[in-house]
Amino acid sequence: MSVGGFARALQSFRNGQKLRGMNPVPLRGWDEASFAVSRSSTPLRSRGFLWIFGIAWGLWILPDHSSSGYSGGGVVSGRARAVGLEAVSRDLAIDFGTANTRVMVKGRGLVLDEPSVIAVDTRTREVLALGHEASDLVGRTADHVVTVRPLHQGAITDFDMAERMLRAVLARCGLSRMSRPRVLLSVPAAATSIERRALKQAAERAGASSAILIEAPMAAAIGLDLPIYEAMGSVVLDIGAGTTETAVISLGGVVAMKALRIGGNDLDHAISEYVRQELDLVISDRVGEELKIRIGSANPATPLALAEVHGRRTSSGAPSTEQVSSEVVASAMHELVNAMVGGAAACLAEAPPELAQDAIFEGIHLVGGGAAIDGIVPLISQGTSVPVHVVSNSISVVAEGAARCLDEIGRLGALFEAANR
Ligand SMILES: Nc1ncnc2c1ncn2[C@@H]1O[C@H](COP(=O)(O)OP(=O)(O)OP(=O)(O)O)[C@@H](O)[C@H]1O
Ligand SMILES: [Mg+2]
Repeated sequence: MSVGGFARALQSFRNGQKLRGMNPVPLRGWDEASFAVSRSSTPLRSRGFLWIFGIAWGLWILPDHSSSGYSGGGVVSGRARAVGLEAVSRDLAIDFGTANTRVMVKGRGLVLDEPSVIAVDTRTREVLALGHEASDLVGRTADHVVTVRPLHQGAITDFDMAERMLRAVLARCGLSRMSRPRVLLSVPAAATSIERRALKQAAERAGASSAILIEAPMAAAIGLDLPIYEAMGSVVLDIGAGTTETAVISLGGVVAMKALRIGGNDLDHAISEYVRQELDLVISDRVGEELKIRIGSANPATPLALAEVHGRRTSSGAPSTEQVSSEVVASAMHELVNAMVGGAAACLAEAPPELAQDAIFEGIHLVGGGAAIDGIVPLISQGTSVPVHVVSNSISVVAEGAARCLDEIGRLGALFEAANR
């Protein structure tokens, strides 16, 4: 191909990207005009060099399409912005949660906060949508499109899909295998060594040049600025969608930990099951989640509230609408919420008495989406006899803590050793 031909090919590639609604990458002077100038004034040998350099540059700048085919959009979208991002940092902190994925980049803050779900074409295994876009497709896809959540209870259940999702996440952040990003991933403290290895491998196969793990309660404690290196107990309770973990941290390590594989998803399911049994109405877990957020409470004596839900009769299958009360939702949540509080109390009971004593003064730091459950704070406080604090950034604090570690991987070696076993 001649230099001019390459220029035209590049131009038509850019037009093609435009047609697909993406921002073209600024060609930094390698446009048609500058090619025309080089063609007339550059000797043949130099032209060959320029041609090779052009291809290499083109490859470097293109996100990796090798298996996902997905190339971004959203919070950090389009290649023009992606190039800017690469200039700032290729190191990412990722909180790859059961329900939500959050990505922090040093110097850029939170660049991605999306549901951990992808829509995939089953014929080509291409990722068609990520996050909210994919979530909107749940239950509305054609036969050959499925929506997948690659994590269950904080662990990867579908390795291939986890890899594809992480690849799509990197692409959304403007990074590809060619950028050799380094990734710090949070992992549940309860994760087994096999689950940890799977997460690391998925990130590396998705394009990370290296993937290092940090336990989520430790990342949260760092994000909260707790004195983790001092000889005093700092307590973090993370209620996520698939896990509920309490950890007592002291002298840079987790001294006591109680991890339960229950979380918000289980509450949603318990609500939908309860409504089916008590009201003869079939609703999805997604509607169960809506009920939890709108009128759910950990306090059975909460003032009465009602919400209208659409479903179908268990017996006849006919569509039906019912008023569901906050009492019903609280009853459905009761057992699981008590188990979560029991986990926190058990963790404090296992901690050395001096450190448990510190918790009485310093309190429990509640993080994760579950921190927003109505009435959960007083319930935990009563169940553990310890004050409970919730911060405003409770859902992003794990990613924030991990991001703070990006520069300090050497200094914080001990934290990573434990998580990477
Ligand atoms: N206002 C609210 N009331 C009750 N629950 C809520 C509220 N807002 C969010 N949640 C729940 O929080 C959960 C998501 O929390 P989070 O994003 O911390 O989970 P995750 O990090 O993806 O999961 P995990 O850490 O367990 O892998 C969901 O179950 C969601 O329903
Ligand atoms: Mg989480």
